[in-house]
Amino acid sequence: MRVNFLTPGLGLLALLMLLSACSEQDAHSGHSMASGATESVQRVQDFARIANGKRIFSRHCIECHGANAEGDPNWRFRDASGQFPPPPLNGTAHAWHHPWGELHQTIRDGVNNMPAWGTVLSPDEIDDTIAWFQSLWPDEVYAAWHGIDQRSRNAAQQR
Ligand code: HEC
Repeated sequence: MRVNFLTPGLGLLALLMLLSACSEQDAHSGHSMASGATESVQRVQDFARIANGKRIFSRHCIECHGANAEGDPNWRFRDASGQFPPPPLNGTAHAWHHPWGELHQTIRDGVNNMPAWGTVLSPDEIDDTIAWFQSLWPDEVYAAWHGIDQRSRNAAQQR
């Protein structure tokens, strides 16, 4: 599902709705996501990895996503060819809706006007770029992503 017309205010509303939906869902798994919203989640603190990700991003990604992963200002709107411009990856768009595996896959295989990097970058290098742009995310965005990522990992384990 893609939501391309969120204003920042609506984005925040969606985030709050998501967090309250999570607290309902987690009620029967024994821990509350409501506290997850304020609790600090352990973030990737591997600075060597983040620095490597920044280096790779500068080399391969900034021409489209911008030096600070700020994306194209018109990322919400289809261009003349009917495609979406490169979105921000800095936590202001919706990259945080995707678990780690999906982000990795998008970068590896590409989608629409997003080129595939699987033949240029190793799996570790792809992961390092994710670690870098995630280091730009505000804590509350990271915490919301972390909940999504954990649920996706748990679901994969149960399969
Ligand atoms: C030629 C321009 C271009 C380059 C270079 C590029 N991207 Fe993209 N990227 C895009 C476009 C366009 C999209 C949106 C595709 C769509 O969903 O229609 C995108 C989407 C993404 C997404 C999904 C974001 C979301 O919110 O779902 C990620 C993650 C991403 N790019 C990471 C990268 C990384 C990391 C690199 C460098 C290794 C990179 N991109 C290089 C154009 C580019």
